[in-house]
Amino acid sequence: MRQEKTIIWGITSILLSKTSQARICAVSLQFSTFNCVLKTVDIELIGLGDRGMTALRSLLRIGEKLPVRISALRDTDVERVRAAQRTMDNGQLVRQAHHKSMVNGQWSMVDVVKLTYICTDWQSHARLAIEAMRAGRHVAVEVPAALTLEDINALVETSETTGCHCFMLENCCYDPAILDAIRRIREGEIGMPIHAEGTYYHALDGRWTPWRLEMNRHQRGDLYPTHELAPICMALGITNGQWTMDNGQWTMDNGQCSMDNVQWSMVNGQWPQDRITTLVSMDTAAFTGPSAYEQRMGTAAPDFCNGDHTTTLLRTALGRTIILRHDVLTPQPYDRLFHIVGTRGTITVRDDGSQSHSALTQTMNERLIGALAAGKPLDFGVRDMAVWCAVTPLSELSIKRGFAPVEWPL
Ligand SMILES: NC(=O)c1ccc[n+]([C@@H]2O[C@H](COP(=O)([O-])OP(=O)(O)OC[C@H]3O[C@@H](n4cnc5c(N)ncnc54)[C@H](O)[C@@H]3O)[C@@H](O)[C@H]2O)c1
Repeated sequence: MRQEKTIIWGITSILLSKTSQARICAVSLQFSTFNCVLKTVDIELIGLGDRGMTALRSLLRIGEKLPVRISALRDTDVERVRAAQRTMDNGQLVRQAHHKSMVNGQWSMVDVVKLTYICTDWQSHARLAIEAMRAGRHVAVEVPAALTLEDINALVETSETTGCHCFMLENCCYDPAILDAIRRIREGEIGMPIHAEGTYYHALDGRWTPWRLEMNRHQRGDLYPTHELAPICMALGITNGQWTMDNGQWTMDNGQCSMDNVQWSMVNGQWPQDRITTLVSMDTAAFTGPSAYEQRMGTAAPDFCNGDHTTTLLRTALGRTIILRHDVLTPQPYDRLFHIVGTRGTITVRDDGSQSHSALTQTMNERLIGALAAGKPLDFGVRDMAVWCAVTPLSELSIKRGFAPVEWPL
């Protein structure tokens, strides 16, 4: 097997697959690639740390049944690229190497990659995703895809002008217990959902990565809201109508729900869409953050600013409320809560962290690759990503303004 190693922008890249495939269907700004059938989903995987290696193993497994191929591996750390490559070799799924992928310091427009799958640290997500879409590639990007409103808007605009998908890899949307709860809610079991609570309690302890600690050192607010908010948005109909969950119960197409036996929510025969209008956040002081930082990084951080526990309240246009709680510092048990209060009852799903999340990731990746290969709409679109990620910059803003309510700008 021939390999090529190119160092550009300090990024080491090993390209592994053959260039005989046609390029992504179109790179023209006028031509949408959204529903293009891909004969082979050639993937460039960027970021080969813990999550990237989980993704790699998942994608290799999918390669046994769907037309997917790992075509490029990228990481700023060459040792990680080599380790990932060994995993590929062991999987015996490596195809022939192909020609250089860089032309004049840019990713070539003639290489084979059709999907850029990003598992790097948070700060690099938006930039890498925008670069990839501008090169005509679909993007799948880990949570959170963006940290600022500017980056969120840039992702939406780039996706919609290039016609390239920007799919955020929110695996909690594929939790079977939550999907079952959403089905029951849509069947009218708890009446109209009027309030939701979600938590992300995960004492990171030895799992802190330096970049995540640095983020928490310099920024206040809920820095990781999407695991609990995304499923709540599904339950409350805060969406852009791209869901295609084909569990036989319901599908959505352009905001119209095709299910006609839903009792609580039909308005003029249509599924009502809701949207968030207001956010307010309040945090505790940074009680344990400075010592967590010192323990992991070896230097004191008296300026560590993020509170141990952040609570965010959201209100929607239909007058419903959501509470999000974020705590990755205090030594309490893992808790990813999904709690929905309806006019006739409640539904609660609680993930205590005792089960592996790899099945959720596997389902998500299978549905993503399957949809791309078939030219079908993805389960979630770039505007869902925008709503789920906006909590971070807006909670920071609310806290900065003295825990004041801020208008939802999307
Ligand atoms: N969905 C989930 O359940 C879940 C679970 C864990 C992590 N994550 C997300 O996955 C992402 C990665 O987390 P992790 O724990 O694997 O982090 P990590 O630090 O272990 O790995 C990140 C990797 O990205 C590389 N990298 C950074 N910038 C790069 C760049 N510009 N180009 C190429 N490579 C670059 C680093 O060298 C490193 O190898 C984060 O966004 C995290 O939030 C999601």
